[in-house]
Amino acid sequence: MIEIRNLVKSYGKKRVLNIEEMIINTLGITAVRGENGLGKTTLFSLISGLEGDFEGEIVKKGIEEMDITFVQQNFYLLKRSVYDNIAYPLKIRKWDKNLIKNRVESLLEQFKIEHLADKNASRLSSGESQKVAIARALSFRPKLILLDEPTSNLDKDSTFLTEKILTQYVRQEKAGVIMISHDNEQINRMAEKTIELKDYLKGVN
Ligand SMILES: Nc1ncnc2c1ncn2[C@@H]1O[C@H](COP(=O)(O)OP(=O)(O)OP(=O)(O)O)[C@@H](O)[C@H]1O
Ligand SMILES: [Mg+2]
Repeated sequence: MIEIRNLVKSYGKKRVLNIEEMIINTLGITAVRGENGLGKTTLFSLISGLEGDFEGEIVKKGIEEMDITFVQQNFYLLKRSVYDNIAYPLKIRKWDKNLIKNRVESLLEQFKIEHLADKNASRLSSGESQKVAIARALSFRPKLILLDEPTSNLDKDSTFLTEKILTQYVRQEKAGVIMISHDNEQINRMAEKTIELKDYLKGVN
């Protein structure tokens, strides 16, 4: 569970978020919806710990900081091979070399990007990059994955494939996904719960 209470986040004089209470399940898939500029990305930056400057409390129960990952809306990849990008979280966690190889190869296969393994990530298309970013996030088997519009650059087939991978992942690993999406059909296909951000904001707009 993520328990948010009396959260206020401002940029300069502009108050972006003001949330009395929001409880988010960290098992299964939760979608977060809301119009452009409403504060979704800001909320995820706070939950992920990327942004620490706020008032109020965000309590994570039953989940460790190191088991959380965040795929940002403007994610960036290392200027190294696709293989190295997906292997990176495993290298820093000191996984055994053979285990890294198995895990990376499995993810390349799942996302159908084996042919890109040796390609420098700086030369990928935007859709290819997005798949690599998600594969990299899943690599170390996190318990909670925050995804900010994870299929915004993907075509239909890749969107469905990614949805299937994420849904299976959550089930197999007993993990959680919290994802921002503007796509109602996607939300219907994937999410057990939807958070309509505007319903939680008071006196902001
Ligand atoms: N670093 C920043 N400095 C100043 N203002 C910011 C900053 N980041 C975001 N904002 C403002 O905060 C508000 C919320 O932005 P945020 O990126 O969280 O919206 P969003 O709901 O994710 O929108 P979108 O659907 O377009 O991605 C916007 O008005 C934006 O202009
Ligand atoms: Mg955003």
